Amino acid sequence: MARESARDDLQREIARRRTFAIISHPDAGKTTLTEKLLLYGGAIHLAGSVKARRARRHATSDWLAMEQERGISITASVLHFDYQGFRINLLDTPGHSDFSEDTYRALTAADSAIMLLDNRKGVEAQTEKLFSVCKRRRLPIFTFVNKCDRVGADPLQLIDDVQKELGIRCFVATWPVRRRGEMVGVYDRLASQVRLYEKGTDHGQSRPDARLVELDDPELVELLGEDEHARVSEEIELLEIAGEQPDWEAVASGEASPVYFGSALTNFGVDVFLERFLDQAPAPVPRESSQGVVDPVAEPFSGFVFKVQANMDPKHRDRVAFVRICSGRFQAGEEATISRTGKSLRLAQPQEFMARDRSFSEEAVAGDVVGLHDRGSLRVGDTVALENEELNYPGVPRFSPEHFARIHLDDPLRRKHLDRGLEHLAEEGTILLLFAPSITGPVPIVGAVGKLQFDVLLDRLDREYGVDARLEMLPFHCARWVQGPEAAIEKTASAYGRRQVEDTDGLPMILFDSEWALQRAQQDDDQLRYYDEQPTGIAVKA
Ligand code: G4P
Repeated sequence: MARESARDDLQREIARRRTFAIISHPDAGKTTLTEKLLLYGGAIHLAGSVKARRARRHATSDWLAMEQERGISITASVLHFDYQGFRINLLDTPGHSDFSEDTYRALTAADSAIMLLDNRKGVEAQTEKLFSVCKRRRLPIFTFVNKCDRVGADPLQLIDDVQKELGIRCFVATWPVRRRGEMVGVYDRLASQVRLYEKGTDHGQSRPDARLVELDDPELVELLGEDEHARVSEEIELLEIAGEQPDWEAVASGEASPVYFGSALTNFGVDVFLERFLDQAPAPVPRESSQGVVDPVAEPFSGFVFKVQANMDPKHRDRVAFVRICSGRFQAGEEATISRTGKSLRLAQPQEFMARDRSFSEEAVAGDVVGLHDRGSLRVGDTVALENEELNYPGVPRFSPEHFARIHLDDPLRRKHLDRGLEHLAEEGTILLLFAPSITGPVPIVGAVGKLQFDVLLDRLDREYGVDARLEMLPFHCARWVQGPEAAIEKTASAYGRRQVEDTDGLPMILFDSEWALQRAQQDDDQLRYYDEQPTGIAVKA
């Protein structure tokens, strides 16, 4: 009986989890929307303009910088709070494209994503990249078209562009209602009602009251004027007749996305978006593993590491490994096993690493993220499980780097320190460590998805490992993991402007001096298969 109620309790807790990330191009309004989430969830009381934005542009974690700027307490990798009965776990996705690999990894820990677009710009470069990662993982995506307090592109045109550029079906969930070009509310298609907002005097710092009216309410006709009212009614009628119809099943499988219009700055349309999002976004779902599908409600605890972050204190070389819980309940004090090494790992109190002044008193369950102190035994991609040494979750892929450099060391006596530093930083995922064969033995090459990662690398080698290293940039611009007969790999890699290397797991890769060279290689030899993610688990042919 007690066991049953514990299971019911676990099921209830998991059902209210919403673990997601926001994907967007810098400047679309991610920070502003995040602040509004915190505001609506009661985690902060007044949203305000975030200062020192420039500094944040280069931050590895937007939230760390936000924390410093705003004095609000949030953790480096996940922001969790309760809102209308839901436990929200919002995963950090650094805005700067040079840290996009961090963002890609965060998406492996998410159950859904919010795609934020600027109403004048629509799909931008970074949105497209991040979207493609979500699509591969079939994550449900909820679109919020932001900045509708200003006049932007025609909403239907914008939706059309999203469908064409991203290849996803979109249906309107809310529609902007304007009076003389100014947004006054949104039509909520599911409730067939209009939400009208009053513009506050505090520049969106607090939540505005919304008034619900029917579309044919005389008050609305009066507010908009007959002509504008007729136009809005016509637009909505057209949506019903000719537009894509709501299909929540297709949303759940990542094939369609509901589109909401609003303004994170003035809060217009944010409340209805959040309500619908929390309602429709999935709670943690069963995950694929080496032992078949694992149900989140199944005890015992299991999860995987999607991010390793150097601890804030450089004097101690311990790190925090962020674990997405996939099943069961996290209980401090228990002994779990790391599947890759078979080593045991004592699960320490998560609250030590979670929010600073908000106590994380309840236990963490599937869907949550816990930070584990680690002295080097965990790396990105590791599965951690109780009573199961063989379980493995696929899914924290290495993405192919776009920048490559050789490392030079002036003081050969620091070689060992350099090797150790490189090994640790590769485990954390700051860089990808590659080895190129040469007559003197394999020489290390470092690869990074964004160039700024190299700055982080040099800085950390210096501060944490006492290594003064220099980088010599190599003339390669893309890389692919490659599978096929060894002789064919060697032949393809021997052409001018290419180079064969191996990653730390011994998997062969080819570096190319241009995308074009890669395309040619793909056309020239059909025995080889190329991958832009390390081909373990779910790999997609590039
Ligand atoms: P990001 O995290 O995605 O990079 O975007 P962020 O929230 O920092 O917003 C980028 C800029 O867009 C900011 O202006 C912000 O105020 C503005 N913004 C965000 N949401 C809206 C919206 O709904 N409507 C309008 N009109 N603007 C919006 P800024 O000038 O860079 O900074 P600030 O001076 O406003 O602080």
